This record gives sequence, C-alpha cells and structure tokens, in this order.
Amino acid sequence: MKTIRISRRDFMGKALAGSALLMAYPWFNALADKSSTDYSKKVKVGIIGVGSRGSLLLHYLNELSEEINIEVVAVCDNYEPHYQRAIKNTGGKAKAFYDYRKLIEIPDIDAVVIAVPLHEHAHIAIDLLNAGKHVFCEKAMARHLEDVKRMADTFYSTGKVLQIGHQRMFDPRYLKAVELINAGEIGKITQIRAFWHRNNDWRRPLPEGRTDLERKINWRLYREYSCGLMTELASHQIQVANWFKGKTPVSVMGKGSINYWKDGREVYDNVALIYSYDDGTQFIYDSMTSNRHYGLEEQIMGDEGTLEMEVNRRYWEHPPPKPEPPPPPGIVQLMKDIEGGIFSDAIPLTNSSWIPELKVEGDGKKIVNREKGFDESKAQLEGFIASVRKGEPTKGLFEQGYWATIWALLGQKAMDEQRIIELPNELKLI
Ligand SMILES: NC(=O)c1ccc[n+]([C@@H]2O[C@H](COP(=O)([O-])OP(=O)(O)OC[C@H]3O[C@@H](n4cnc5c(N)ncnc54)[C@H](O)[C@@H]3O)[C@@H](O)[C@H]2O)c1
Repeated sequence: MKTIRISRRDFMGKALAGSALLMAYPWFNALADKSSTDYSKKVKVGIIGVGSRGSLLLHYLNELSEEINIEVVAVCDNYEPHYQRAIKNTGGKAKAFYDYRKLIEIPDIDAVVIAVPLHEHAHIAIDLLNAGKHVFCEKAMARHLEDVKRMADTFYSTGKVLQIGHQRMFDPRYLKAVELINAGEIGKITQIRAFWHRNNDWRRPLPEGRTDLERKINWRLYREYSCGLMTELASHQIQVANWFKGKTPVSVMGKGSINYWKDGREVYDNVALIYSYDDGTQFIYDSMTSNRHYGLEEQIMGDEGTLEMEVNRRYWEHPPPKPEPPPPPGIVQLMKDIEGGIFSDAIPLTNSSWIPELKVEGDGKKIVNREKGFDESKAQLEGFIASVRKGEPTKGLFEQGYWATIWALLGQKAMDEQRIIELPNELKLI
C-alpha cells in the first residue's frame, strides 16, 4: 500500500485537531491527516468544459497529480480554441473530444469534472452517473428546478459520487465558524445578511469579428443558460446561510431588475431577497453590479456575537471594557470649578436626549489563522478524489449543493413572479 503524506492535509488536520467538526462534517475527513489512505491505484480523471473555470480546475488537477496519484486522461470542449488549449495544458497526453459522449465511452475513466455552462450541467452529469462515473460539478447544479431534482434522483439511484462544488465547505474559516456556532459562541443566530457587490458589466470580450459567439461566451447574461447573479454568485452564499443555520428556508420573496446595464442582457443586474427559516430568522441577501464599495460578505448575527466570514473576523456583543483613558483637561478644569463652588445653581452642561446607537466598538479577532497559499477550490478537488477512492459519496455533502441551488432558483422565481415562494412538495428529498 502506498501512503502519501500531504502537507495541506496535515495543516487541515492540525488547524482543527480534536474538533467536533471531524465528526459533524465528514467531508472534512477527506482532508484530515489520514496516514492509512491507500493511494496505490491511479485515479483516472476526465474533464468536460475547459473554459475559464475548467482551465483552473485542470491546472489544479495537474498540480495534484503526483500528490494524490491521479491523471487527467481525457479532455472535452466543443469550442476549438479551448479544445486546443486543453490539449496543450495536458502536455498532449490526454485524449481529446468535442463531444462529451465520446469521453463517457472510455471505460477506465473513474471520475469526471464538469465545467460547462449551467444549462449543460444536468444532462451531462446524469449521463455520466448512469455510465458509472463519479462526477464533480460546481455550483449551481442546473438551470431549471426539475433538472436539479433529476440530478438528485440519479445521484441517489446510482450511488455514485456527485459532488457539487461549494468551496467554502472546504475552507478552514467556515469550518471553524460552524464549530463556534455549534458551541454557542455567538449565541442564537437571529439574522444573516449576505451580499455580493461588483462594479463591472460581467461581460467577456468576443474574438475580433465574432459577434455570433455572444451567447456562447457571455452565457451568464442570458436566461436560456443562467439566472445570472442568483445561480452564479448567490448560490455560494445561500449554501453558507443554510449550513450555518443548520436548516433550509421555508420561503423566499424578492425584487430584481436591470437598472444599470441596459445592454441587451436578460438577467437582473441587481437583486434583493429575504429568505425565511422556520424559527423566524431572516436571511437578507442582495447583489449588484454597479457599486463595489461593500464588496462581498456574509454577516452572521447572534445575540452574543457576529461573524464576518469573508474578512475572517469574529466580534463580541459585549467586548471586555477597555481601561479608562484619563479625562481631557477641559473636564478636569470643570470638575475643579464645580468643587470650588464657581457655579451657584445650574451647571452649564447640555445633555442629549438621544444617544446614537453606533456600531459596537472593537476590532474583533480572526476566526482562524489561514495558511499562506491554501486554496479551498483545490481542497475540494482533493475531497472529491478521496470520495472517489472510497467509491461512495460523503454523507451530507450533496444535500448542501442541492438546497443551495434549489433556493437560488426559487429566489429567482419569487422575483420573476412577484410573490412569496415556498418549497414545492415535488422538490423535497426523501
Ligand atoms: N467557484 C466556483 O464554484 C465557480 C467559479 C467560476 C465558474 N464556475 C462554474 O464553472 C462553469 C463554467 O464557467 P466558466 O466561467 O468556465 O465558463 P466558460 O464559458 O469560460 O467555459 C465553459 C466551457 O464549456 C464549453 N462547453 C460548453 N458546452 C459544452 C459541451 N456541451 N460540451 C463540451 N464543452 C462545452 C465551452 O466551450 C467553454 O469552453 C459554470 O457552471 C460556472 O458556474 C464555478
């Protein structure tokens, strides 16, 4: 048996050594130090869709190849420049296809990474699972609710791994935060706010003279292929809210519009939604593309403290008092005057009847010390390969992705139909 010790895995193990998380979130075990893992068999991997994200995932897979004994043996893309680039990036060693069905026919491929546009996820993932392959596909799961459910049904019926990429689940910051929440460190969570703000048109340039490629390259901007901000960004933060609350919402309402980028796009350029949980907690979400001042954040608010996940900080509602600074000289003089009887009756002090409820003072503390160079997207690929080696999905991981996509799409529906949406029975998981 070949055993490989991996520094990243060691780090993850140490960062949360003895942590209840290893029990509560089994997918984390995939990265904890497991000196008994058998790496002797090479895992053969294929990748379908080698555009922007797929190229990065291919790069990570290449980087991991020796460490965890994997090999990218096939690539597939139906766009010539990306097809050629993918061949180059495997050193010409991988088989290459324009049609993903040819890749599926290769019998000894164990696992396939999908990085095609959203509307292509479902049928490719379902074909792969039915052909006995394990699948990694990043969020969101699919463009339509019924396709998400079909993917879930195929996942359960085949028993193969279908890992929906949500890299925050492999990020020590988020794992530590869950531990803090479960230990009651921020008290009862009574509100979650999250936002993702950008100030750009989200467009990708087309090759010279190729306006015919607009919808292929800028697929995120068109309803046929994507729900824009909801499926491409919000799904990440919905996953975090559900995970931290330990439950899924019961309803969603919202508003969205195109109020800035009137350039032919069909997806909203700003959205604002409220997701409600059964205990009365609201998850307030917004996203926009014309102001980036507040950037990206998930704010988890409890009656004892607050977590700001993206900036890696925790705060206390009642921070320990700081030592009193000496009173300013004016106050000292006034006190002396009072003691000396300068003022016979009224003391000339004005008093405000209203004290502004300013932000609680204090810089907080880091949630976790981050290892330089650690990359959670790469970590989730390691987690995927660990599940593939085991030959079975890691408990609880798929459902995180399922509910994040379902509520992203229901959020879109709530905005489109201008009504409060609850979970339809047919989308419930058994
Ligand atoms: N952090 C994350 O989780 C994250 C980040 C970025 C993108 N993504 C996801 O990755 C996916 C791809 O995004 P992207 O930005 O790389 O898009 P992209 O347009 O840059 O790349 C998509 C690639 O898929 C190819 N393709 C399309 N249909 C195909 C088919 N039927 N068969 C083979 N190839 C096909 C295209 O030619 C293109 O090369 C999306 O689902 C997106 O949501 C996830």
